[in-house]
Amino acid sequence: MKTTLIRSACLSLCGAAALTLAAGARAQSISPKQMADALHAVMAADRTVYTRLIVNRLQNEEKLLKATEHWKDEKTLVLPAQMFRYGSEEVAKTNKDFSYSLLSSWPVNKQNAPRTPVEKEGLESVAKTPAQPFYKEETLGGKKYFTAVYADRAVAPACVTCHNDHKDSPRKDFKIGDTMGGVVIRIPI
Ligand code: HEC
Repeated sequence: MKTTLIRSACLSLCGAAALTLAAGARAQSISPKQMADALHAVMAADRTVYTRLIVNRLQNEEKLLKATEHWKDEKTLVLPAQMFRYGSEEVAKTNKDFSYSLLSSWPVNKQNAPRTPVEKEGLESVAKTPAQPFYKEETLGGKKYFTAVYADRAVAPACVTCHNDHKDSPRKDFKIGDTMGGVVIRIPI
C-alpha cells in the first residue's frame, strides 16, 4: 500500500517534472529566424571589427598598409568583402547545408550576383527597406530552406568611391547610406 502510494506520488511528480522539462525544452528551442539573426549579428560584428581594427587602423590611421583586391601580389591587406567570402568558403568545406554569402544586384565580382529568385527578391527588398531584414522559405534541389537577407550598407566614403570607380562595377552612382548588397543566410528546415 505504502509503496503503491509512494510510487503513484513519484509517477505524478516525475510526470510533472518531465512535462516541465519538455515545456522548457520547447520554450528553449531556436527558430530558424532566431538562428539566422544570431549568425548575422556575429558576421556583422566580425566585419565591423576587421574593417575598423585592421583595415581602418593600418590603412587610414597608421598609413602602413592598404587593403586591395590583389592583396597577394601587392602584399597588402585582404578587402573586408574578400575576408567575408573566404570565411563562408571555409564554412562550406565542412558544412554542406547551412551557408552564407555577401551578394549584390550590382556585383563587382560576378560570383556575388544573386542566383535564386528568393535571393533576387531579398536583395531588392533590403535595398528599399534596409532596416527590415527579408525572410522567406525556398526549395532548392528538393530541400527546404529558410533564407534570410540583411542589408549591407555604404557606411564609409571608401565603400562608395571604391565601388563607383571599380572597372568591374556595373553601378557607378552609389551614395553614402545606400544599400550596396546583402548578406544571405540559408538554413535547412
Ligand atoms: C578598396 C575597394 C573596396 C572597398 C573600400 C570596399 N569594397 Fe566592397 N568590394 C570590393 C571588391 C573588389 C569586391 C569583390 C570581392 C570578391 O572578390 O568577392 C567587393 C565586394 C562587395 C560586396 C559583394 C558584391 C560585389 O560587389 O561583389 C558588397 C555588398 C560590398 N563589397 C559592399 C561594400 C561596403 C558596404 C563597403 C564599405 C564598408 C565596401 N564594399 C568597401 C571592393 C571594395
